[in-house]
Amino acid sequence: MGPPGAGKGTQSRLLSDELGIAHYATGDILREARASGTELGREAARYMDAGELVPDEVVLGLIRERITEGEGRHGFVLDGFPRTVEQAEGLSEMLEEAGVELEAVLNLEVPEEELTRRLTGRRVCGACGEVFNVAFEPEIGAECPECGGTLNRRSDDEPQTVRRRLEVYEEQTAPVLDWYRDESDVPVVGIDGTGEIEDVHRRLREALEA
Ligand code: AP5
Repeated sequence: MGPPGAGKGTQSRLLSDELGIAHYATGDILREARASGTELGREAARYMDAGELVPDEVVLGLIRERITEGEGRHGFVLDGFPRTVEQAEGLSEMLEEAGVELEAVLNLEVPEEELTRRLTGRRVCGACGEVFNVAFEPEIGAECPECGGTLNRRSDDEPQTVRRRLEVYEEQTAPVLDWYRDESDVPVVGIDGTGEIEDVHRRLREALEA
């Protein structure tokens, strides 16, 4: 868990590669649905572009499919889910039905100023999907250094939408951490998400091992 731009995607991909477990990112799943032009994707796009959360029942349905039918039966890292108390309750029921135990909630902590810098600086290649950041790599221009494709800003990384996403996080997602602390036996571990990507990854691994 963590606010927009905390590094959930970056760190989850590293963990999933290293541990050989599935990576379920609700943001990625919704963007795929959007790119394939399905009705679900079109509906989700309206919420995403406004910086709002997609309705709980839609997201719960997408995750249920993966946990019960996918490769996730052998372990998984969830990225960007659950994002509301209703989603946390739904997940808990799903896991109980599947006989799977949640081992830890890892929460990446990053100051708001840094989150805004990361999100507004992010550029994604429209051809190969590689992610760059002009805030940290000023040499990056309009072309992808990997494949020559066009680099775009994600539609919800416009400054105004980033502000709304951060508000939505405080209103709807921060309470999920309290829910886990108060209503579950799952340990909630805060991780310093600042500094180099490799350093954050090391802290995550240490927290998991502990
Ligand atoms: P989603 O795609 O999940 O977006 P988000 O949570 O806003 O997260 P981001 O992907 O922007 O940030 P991140 O924490 O993953 O950081 P990242 O590693 O990418 O969701 C998008 C939308 O989908 C939501 O707004 C909502 O509408 C909908 N949605 C998704 N899940 C939902 C749910 N469960 N319920 C309802 N609606 C849902 O890094 C960000 C940038 O920072 C990158 O450029 C990266 O390279 C850089 N970076 C990462 N780590 C570092 C570091 N240590 N130092 C410097 N730069 C870094």
